[in-house]
Amino acid sequence: MKGIILSGGRGTRLYPLTVSLSKQILPIFDKPMIYYPLSVLMLANIREYLIISSPEHIDLYRGLFGDGKRLGLTIEYAIQPEPKGIAQAFTIGENFVQNQSCALILGDNLFYGQGVSEKLENAGALTEGGLVFAYYVKDPERYGVVEFDKQHKALSIEEKPKKPKSHFAVTGLYFYDHEVVSIAKSLKPSARSELEITDVNNAYLQKGKLNVEILGRGTAWLDTGTHESLLQAGNFVQTIEDRQGLKIGCVEEIAYRKNYITTEQLLEIANFSKENPYCQYLRGLVEEERITPSPLKAVEQAPDEEPLSLEAINEIVHEVRKQRR
Ligand code: TTP
Repeated sequence: MKGIILSGGRGTRLYPLTVSLSKQILPIFDKPMIYYPLSVLMLANIREYLIISSPEHIDLYRGLFGDGKRLGLTIEYAIQPEPKGIAQAFTIGENFVQNQSCALILGDNLFYGQGVSEKLENAGALTEGGLVFAYYVKDPERYGVVEFDKQHKALSIEEKPKKPKSHFAVTGLYFYDHEVVSIAKSLKPSARSELEITDVNNAYLQKGKLNVEILGRGTAWLDTGTHESLLQAGNFVQTIEDRQGLKIGCVEEIAYRKNYITTEQLLEIANFSKENPYCQYLRGLVEEERITPSPLKAVEQAPDEEPLSLEAINEIVHEVRKQRR
């Protein structure tokens, strides 16, 4: 499975932050926004990426990630001349996708919660049809909205409906089989002159090949598109990270835990600075590993039915820290 991160758009709601910067490079607490969607696709075990952005901003991402080798990934880049719709990612990415299954995530989408990693691993193994996620929101008219029957089977998806048929919005994370490029190429632009991802989803739905999985209320799907939501997302990440001593969206950590990079490579990244807390965190991962192999596996692999409490997580982390001292 390949992965596309769509990081273009106008960012008009974030003016003036986005006059000279790309929205998806703005900070969410301690890392650039795009780290979060990249970490999501890495958790789906995807290693080959295409980052798409506007002509004026694409080099910001090239500067951030280069060819991806530092993270044990391959990362290519492509330009979206104008924001002409989310589904355009697949026509722009045709040569990259090369008839394989492909995931797409919007560069400003942040997911966090118990059981998300497992859902992502399953999604990353998809070989047929499409899989999207639905999330209960208070303002469904802003999104693609899913209508479900009583068995939670998706019946229809409507883009920004005036009268939404449910409160379930389709999130900005999509998994498709090899047919996605030809479906995207067959689309006509909508009334707002965009290639709509909702049309791709409906094409799969009509063939009976779209799986719509509900993300429960224990999952956070955060918006970062307005001044308020940008700050709230940063505060959310800071609160969780401070409480647990574990980072959200730390792509270096995921690369290390998945053995995409060696201990030496991780330490080389961490060597950027002795005092910087992000670098100290990366060094700490290696130290913890030396004391007890994967001490945080217990946290990651906690079964859904028995979620670890924050206190339990903290106890584990505290134990590990005590051993280190
Ligand atoms: P939006 O939030 O709808 O648009 P935007 O980011 O340009 O912001 P604003 O509404 O404030 O002008 O886009 C959702 C995400 O999809 C965002 O990460 C940008 C990305 N996107 C593209 O990269 N290209 C596109 O053609 C579209 C429609 C969106």
